Amino acid sequence: MLIIKTIAEMRQFVSEARKNNRSVGLVPTMGYFHRGHLALMEKAVQQCDVVVTSLYVNPLQFGPAEDFAAYPKDLERDAKLAESVGVDVIFAPTDREMYPAGFDTTVSVGDTITGKLCGLSRPGHFTGVATVVTKLFNIVQPDKAFFGQKDAQQVLVIKRMVQDLNMNVEIVPVPIVREKDGLAMSSRNVYLTPEQRQAATVLYKSLQLAQEQVKKGQRDGAEICRLVKEKINSEPLAELDYVEIYSYPELKSIDKINGAALLAVAAKFGLARLIDNIILEA
Ligand code: PAJ
Repeated sequence: MLIIKTIAEMRQFVSEARKNNRSVGLVPTMGYFHRGHLALMEKAVQQCDVVVTSLYVNPLQFGPAEDFAAYPKDLERDAKLAESVGVDVIFAPTDREMYPAGFDTTVSVGDTITGKLCGLSRPGHFTGVATVVTKLFNIVQPDKAFFGQKDAQQVLVIKRMVQDLNMNVEIVPVPIVREKDGLAMSSRNVYLTPEQRQAATVLYKSLQLAQEQVKKGQRDGAEICRLVKEKINSEPLAELDYVEIYSYPELKSIDKINGAALLAVAAKFGLARLIDNIILEA
C-alpha cells in the first residue's frame, strides 16, 4: 500500500490506473480508523479495482470552539488497518497542499438540507465538508465514493452537490457500524471516560425506543421526539443537542410519519459530541 502526500503524485497514480482501465473508488476520511471506516473500505474494495482512502482532518469543517486541534491521529496504525482490508493508497495531504495561501473558494449546499440538524448546531460545517469533498473528487476523480449512514445528513449533502454540480461520481452509502452495545462507532468515542462511554449507549437505546413505537403504530413525530428526548435526558451525563424527525431523503418537516423518516439525535458526553440516527419506516 502506498502513502501519497501530494496532489501531483495522487493525480499521477490515478492516471496510470485509468490508462489500465481500472475503476477507482474513494473513501474520504479524517482518519483514526475504526470498524465503521473499514466497512466503507471493504465495500470499496469489493466494487472497485483500485481503492484510495483519503485521510485528512479538514480544518474548514470545524468551528472555532470545536475539537480540530484535539482530533485523534495515528497514521501508522491507520495505514496498517487500511492495508489489512485491501486499500491501495492512503492520500494524506498537508494543510498547505489542500489550502495554499490565497485559497478563497467554497462550495455550499442550500438550506433545505443544511439548514437543520448538524447544519444548525455547527454553522459552516457542511460548507467545509462540501468544499473538501469537491477537492478530493477533483484530485482523485473516482468512479464511486463511499460514505457512512452514521452521517446521514452528510450523505444527503454530498448527493445534492453531486447532482446539482454534475459531478461524475456515484455516491455509495454504507450502513452504520455499531459496538456490541449499540453505540455507533466514531473516532470521537476515544474522548469518553468509562462512565461517559456507558452513558452514551442511551443514544441507540433511544432510537430503538422510537422504532418500537412506530412498530406499535405510533405515527406522531412530536410524540416520538418527546419520548426520545425524555430517554436521553434520563441519562445525567448526556447533554442533549437535538432530537428531530424529517421526511427521508427530502428532509422536509413532517407531523406524521408515513413512508420513510429520518430520526436524528445529537448529544454531548463530556468533550465528545456524538450523533446517531435511524430511518423509521411506517
Ligand atoms: P470521518 O468522521 O472520518 O468519517 C469518514 C467516513 O466514515 C464518513 O463517510 C462517515 O459517515 C463514515 N463513518 C464514520 N463512522 C461510521 C460508522 N459507525 N458506521 C459507518 N460509517 C461510519 O465524515 C468525515 O470523516 C468527513 O466529514 C469527511 C467526509 C472525510 C470530509 O472531511
